Amino acid sequence: MSDAHGQRLATCYTPVIMVITIDGPAGAGKSTVARKLAARLELPYLDTGAMYRAIALTAMQQGVELSDTAQLIELARRTRLEVDCGPTHSRVRVDGHDVSEAIRTMSVNQATPFVAGVQAIRDVLVDKQREIGRGLGSFVTEGRDQGSVVFPQAEVKFVLDGSPEKRAQRRHQEMLAEGEDIDYETVLRNVVLRDANDAKQWAALLIPGAAIHIDTSRMSISEVVDRLVGHIQQFTG
Ligand code: DC
Repeated sequence: MSDAHGQRLATCYTPVIMVITIDGPAGAGKSTVARKLAARLELPYLDTGAMYRAIALTAMQQGVELSDTAQLIELARRTRLEVDCGPTHSRVRVDGHDVSEAIRTMSVNQATPFVAGVQAIRDVLVDKQREIGRGLGSFVTEGRDQGSVVFPQAEVKFVLDGSPEKRAQRRHQEMLAEGEDIDYETVLRNVVLRDANDAKQWAALLIPGAAIHIDTSRMSISEVVDRLVGHIQQFTG
């Protein structure tokens, strides 16, 4: 086989690595969209919120005060997190124990922002996310800082957004379905409060051209997924 031929073959068979990031505020439909997009593209799906949730759950289980930043950092450094990123499933293990369901409770929801607000914990989880990413090659990842901080070299970056009212409405419906007794106004206030903190994490993506922005307020999940697929097809030509 000639060098030229060998080189041509190598070029033909080099798999295209594609990292797709989805960031944006709570309630914009990111998780559902990311999961469906990954399934459609048959790519692994990395749920980074699950990693912050897993640390929060572990802190609660081990009786670490959420205000005790030093202890939280120590816990994040010593906890062994394993994330299984299937295109149609996603599992998280802490020190060998599957916590995929346990991290979805209301108390974990409320505790997680304390964990996510500590930079040293973010550093630990960002390193872990990059390590997982290196192992996966191509994947869809979803969070707050994926296209801005964790994988700035990603091929396709999305920011999903929506009006605070629409996002609060979706969140309110979810909470009612989970049996939470809460009024819409309280949920809306929380959404607005969280936006102020969370938005810093994807600020770099707000520069024109840095990411594709999609307002999901008036779109169904499948419309959003179709739109994302359309952009990705443009990228792959
Ligand atoms: O997307 P989610 O609801 O599972 O996220 C849980 C929490 O973790 C939420 O408070 C936002 C935070 N988070 C973050 O700060 N950075 C990420 N990359 C992912 C989630």
